[in-house]
Amino acid sequence: MQTKKIESLLLSVPQMDDDHTALITQEDEFSTAVAADAPRAELFVRLTQLIEAFRYHFDCEESMMRSNRFKSWKRHAQEHLTLIEQMSWLRDDLAAGTVNQCGAMVLCMRDWTEQHIIGADKRFACYLHEGPVANGIFSIVG
Ligand SMILES: [Fe+2]
Ligand SMILES: [Fe+2]
Repeated sequence: MQTKKIESLLLSVPQMDDDHTALITQEDEFSTAVAADAPRAELFVRLTQLIEAFRYHFDCEESMMRSNRFKSWKRHAQEHLTLIEQMSWLRDDLAAGTVNQCGAMVLCMRDWTEQHIIGADKRFACYLHEGPVANGIFSIVG
């Protein structure tokens, strides 16, 4: 991915930014393998690794939300679950040899990832930047 594009997805939360950059890079590599007509077995392995990387990131992010008392974490986690389901369906189709629009599905997956980062993830990042007092989690006792 172009550096400029990655920069537009940064949220100034180092752990999230590092994970997102690594995930998008991995998505790009998968996309390149699809475009190069890589063998189905290779695509299956790459997609399995991608799903595991996303799962790990989502677990970390949801843990951060809970420990920071982010009220909308369940709705956010539902978006995570939807992406994992979509990627798992694609992997099932790859395994069964029934997928015939892999390239289009990869583009959808990539688009969803970017929309999630600049939408739900950005809302959580803003919450973190505003701090617990601004979010009514702790009150200031004078
Ligand atoms: Fe997220
Ligand atoms: Fe994220």
